[in-house]
Amino acid sequence: MAIMSDARKTNLWGGRFTGETDRGFADYNRSFGFDRRLFAVDVRASIAHCDGLAGARELTGAESNEIKSALQAILDRGQTDASYFDEPNSEDVHSFVEARLVEMIGDVGRKLHTGRSRNDQVATDLRLWLRDELDRTALALRSVQEGLLDLAAAHAEAAIPGYTHLQRAQPVLFAHWCLAYFEMLARDRERFADVRGRVNVLPLGSAALAGTSYPIDRDAAARALGFDGISRNSLDAVSDRDFCIEFAGAASLVMMHLSRLAEDIILYSTTEFGFFELSDAVATGSSLMPQKKNPDSMELVRGKAGRVFGHLAALLATMKGLPLAYNKDMQEDKEAVFDTADTVNASLAVTATVLRNLRLNEARASEAASHGYLNATELADYLVRKGMPFREAHETVGRIVVHAIERGVELSELRLDDLKSFSAGIEQDVFASLSLEQTLATKSQTGGTAPGRVAEELKRAGKQL
Ligand code: ARG
Repeated sequence: MAIMSDARKTNLWGGRFTGETDRGFADYNRSFGFDRRLFAVDVRASIAHCDGLAGARELTGAESNEIKSALQAILDRGQTDASYFDEPNSEDVHSFVEARLVEMIGDVGRKLHTGRSRNDQVATDLRLWLRDELDRTALALRSVQEGLLDLAAAHAEAAIPGYTHLQRAQPVLFAHWCLAYFEMLARDRERFADVRGRVNVLPLGSAALAGTSYPIDRDAAARALGFDGISRNSLDAVSDRDFCIEFAGAASLVMMHLSRLAEDIILYSTTEFGFFELSDAVATGSSLMPQKKNPDSMELVRGKAGRVFGHLAALLATMKGLPLAYNKDMQEDKEAVFDTADTVNASLAVTATVLRNLRLNEARASEAASHGYLNATELADYLVRKGMPFREAHETVGRIVVHAIERGVELSELRLDDLKSFSAGIEQDVFASLSLEQTLATKSQTGGTAPGRVAEELKRAGKQL
């Protein structure tokens, strides 16, 4: 049959229909504009299905060889010639590949869709596509983690102020701050690995919704396509998109973490904080104000987090009211999944670049970590060690802080007799306790910011990578 030039006549359901599809609806219905990204996996899955049909003796060896070499030629052409896809007629990637196949080898090509539906086909394609993408994301996450470890190692001894409520709270090692984000991303990697396990299940063989009536060896197809197992219920297999939602959920958490990192970097790069200066490589200037250096890279990462959260919400909303089994609503899953993957991978890549180009102004950070009474808790702990109940110590130090603020000095700049007037138990050794070094060193339990602990955690993190 000659390929007709009108999409309304090239649809896949000829027999039942006498009338033509409305042109506007045909365009609306069409997903080839975006699901062409499934092209390569669609061909791979078709080759596996072809082997399945040959194994079930639905195709002769000669037929299956003819189909497979045509599919291979289609794949090669698609991978080398972008104009191949400038084709206005195909409804989706599945009909595109089938049309090319029939164009090449005629009636034999029409046998390929035996025992298969676009419903199990699209579910298979999307899982294959996502599996590859998850592997790329795992590497991208790793390179951000490497960036954090390298940054920590470049400033192994440096301290920064730690904040709560964005008020100076207690000093922490800069490496401790780096490792905080390392931990978040380590959990993100675990989540993606977990999602991958549930993605890597083969739906092919479920056909439209009820399963296939041909004796296809589904396990062999799963092995051929690298799936860990096969789906156990055909209704579920063609209509489940929770693997997409899980992916968007895990990606949302990555973006939330990257967004917080971005926010810290943006804030710490302001003149007010002055801990970082962004490299020219990842900053932009202003067309009007000559002095400006703007952290657009990190602002975009922060901004794109919202976009990924939107995809998660969209997928959940699309699925929540759908009766079993397949419904065309589900065609809306693809753009959400594609854009989530693209956004998270691009954001990870840019973040890794920002980290590779980041340097801490150690003098400025340590100055900030030693001013603003970040050692007040340390003084309270000192009084506790001298036998005072913590509540009383807290109250006493509060009064000492007010006194120091009035005099415009830090706690360590108060004279010993001055301090003694608040508590007779205070002795000369208090000054050692108030030092930045001591304040850090006392946080020596697992998870604390003492330099020894952080060095251990850095080593552990390096091994983990
Ligand atoms: N393009 C469709 C999708 O993405 C493929 C499945 C079509 N199935 C159908 N019964 N119309 O969901």
